[in-house]
This record gives sequence, C-alpha cells and structure tokens, in this order.
Amino acid sequence: MVPGGAPYGLVRDGAIAIDGARIAWLGPKHKVPEDYAAWPRESASGALVTPALIDCHTHLVHGGNRASEWERRLQGESYAAIARSGGGILSTVAATRAASEDGLVASARKRLDDFTAQGLGTIEIKSGYGLDLENERKMLRAARRLGRESGVTVKTSFLGAHALPPEYAGRKDAYIRVITEEMLPAIAEEGLADYCDGFCETIAFSPADMRTVFEAARALGLGLRLHAEQLSNSGGAQMAAEMGALSCDHLEYLDADGIRAMARAGTRAVLLPGAFYFLREQRKPPVQALRDAGVGMALASDCNPGSSPLTSLLLAMNLGCTLFGLTPEEALAGITREAAAALGLEADRGTLGAGKIADLALWDVDHPAQLAYALGANPHRSQIRAGCWLT
Ligand code: NIG
Ligand code: FE
Repeated sequence: MVPGGAPYGLVRDGAIAIDGARIAWLGPKHKVPEDYAAWPRESASGALVTPALIDCHTHLVHGGNRASEWERRLQGESYAAIARSGGGILSTVAATRAASEDGLVASARKRLDDFTAQGLGTIEIKSGYGLDLENERKMLRAARRLGRESGVTVKTSFLGAHALPPEYAGRKDAYIRVITEEMLPAIAEEGLADYCDGFCETIAFSPADMRTVFEAARALGLGLRLHAEQLSNSGGAQMAAEMGALSCDHLEYLDADGIRAMARAGTRAVLLPGAFYFLREQRKPPVQALRDAGVGMALASDCNPGSSPLTSLLLAMNLGCTLFGLTPEEALAGITREAAAALGLEADRGTLGAGKIADLALWDVDHPAQLAYALGANPHRSQIRAGCWLT
C-alpha cells in the first residue's frame, strides 16, 4: 500500500523471491532480476498474497467463558453494571486463577487455531485476568508457550492494571504499588512481557494511576499501550500518547486533544469493532477525525470472554467497515501494516518488501476487498511462515 500507488498496493502477476526467512525481492513476474532466474520456483497460481495477518490486541489466554453474563446483558443489564456487581472481568479472574498453565494453553490453543486458519502469523496476547504476581506470570508463560508450540509470533502485554482484584477492594493505591514495585520488576526480569497495558476507565484506573504504572514500565524497557476512552472520555489517550505509547485502543469517546496528542506522537489507534458490536455500543470512534489527523488506524479482534469473544480477523475487518466506516483497504492495512506498527514491529512485518520477514498468507479471492466482504467465509489457501510453507 504505497501512497499514490495502485489501490491496496496490488501487483498483478507478481513474483516474490525469498531468501531464508526474508523477502529478497518482489515485483511483476516479467521483471524478476537475473540473479533469481535460476532459483527454484513454486507457483501460487491465482492466489492473492498478503502479509500474514497480525492481531495486535487480544486477551486470548483466559479461563472459562461468560455466556451467562451475555444472557444477562441481552435482558438489559449493562457491561458496567455487571462489572460493578462483581461479575465481568472479575468472574474471568476467578476462572483464570483456578486454571492450570496447561489448561490455559489448551483452551487458548483452540482460539489461536481459529485465527491461524484464517492467515494469522503474529498475535499480541495480554495478561490481566490473574491480578496477582503468580497468576499474571502463569498467563504470560502460557502465552509464551503458545508461541513456541504453534510457531506463531507471539508478543505479550502485562495488563496487571485491568481491574482491581477483590482482595484490594477499596485499596487501589496499594494495588498500584504492588504493580510497580513487585509485579512489573519480576515480570520484566523474567522477560515475560514486551509491553505494559492498562484499562483506563471510570470502572478501572485513572490516567494518573496509569501514568504511575507506565513510568515504572518504561523504566524497565517495556513498550506502552492503553485501553482508553472505551466507555467514557477520561483523557487516558492523551496521557499515553504524551508518554510515547505505541497504541491507544478502543477510543469510542476520544476527543480532539487526544487525537492531536496521538498524531504528534505517532501513536496508533487500535479499533475494536468486535467489542463495540458485542456490547451493542452506540458511540463510534472518530474515524474521520483520525484520518484527517493522519493517525494510523489498526484493527484487532480484542478476543476476550466478556466484550468480544471473536476469533476471526476477517470478521473484524467486515465489522470495521460496516460499523465504523473503514474502507476495505483501510481494514486490510489495519490487520497488517498498522497492526505491525501498533506493536513496534514495522521494520520486519506487516508489509511485503525486500528485507521483511517472509510471513505470507495466500488467499483464494479475485480482489482484496473480498477479504473484508464475506461474513463467515474462509478463503485462506495456505501460509508461508519465515520463508517456509506450512503444511
Ligand atoms: O478490551 N476493556 C477492558 N478489557 C477488555 C474486556 C475484558 C472483559 O470483559 O473480560 C476489553 O474489552
Ligand atoms: Fe482489550
């Protein structure tokens, strides 16, 4: 997707030269340089080739499910009211604490397989349902293991500031101290997290709380990202952008100051239409204002048991177009180029070009818009991961 280039950056009758794990050259077939003319060839006859898809925001590892809470919401109870009554995130905390690491890996693996069957090659996975050191560690170890066992590139976020654990009810400052003084240093020391995330919302943590957490995380070398302005506008996105966050996510209530700060910092907006749809929200993120300000928009599943039990990035694309007004081209960029940037991986992933890792997805479609268009179809043909065909 080159500015001013062909829509979707499409190259017809293209060829890709792959050397080891990386792309050495790509362009039209009739222009393959002499150097590669004698290389062994494989035909991708008729397939559309895209970068392997990237989900930059998931809560893939968790215990249990919340189907019964969904039934309550269908009867009219709100997500926030259920959370305040001790359900919501805290009910998944109880199920996750009760699960073993093996059990978490096994249940998450099924969800991961749904994603990879639709061309996914890289996924971000958050903790945040343990809310104490041992259980946050258990979640992050499970996420790292999923990467090793599946061959998918897994990046992890420590989300200790997701909700106040029941044993700290009424003692938020004490919990923040545990996060900054005990949990973050131990998790960073073990190399279990690449980023630090938080839930900045009236029912969770304030921008001031998150600033304290982020200062500790940044000092330990973690990247920053934030759930911000999902249910109300608290100014979290502006704070996070000013601290150099890679992404701010959700953003339904984002205001002009937040957009300006994100544009200035190059912070990506991660749009999560699965949560908007599943919570039957009314307020949409300010897509046109983000576009006008030049804020890159990624798109992700937010796969989690409460607000978005979604395991399809193709469906996320469709929801992004239908509900938020993204173009299919923006939706595809949102789960490739912009998702890579939201994870700080743009040097290696998310686009096709010489020097990039050869993580490719092959699709049986005539035109890229068909990826976002179909509801429930799976046109994925096959995948190349780090230069090797997946069998
Ligand atoms: O991204 N917003 C906060 N966290 C999740 C929901 C988690 C849950 O309900 O279990 C989200 O939507
Ligand atoms: Fe989330």
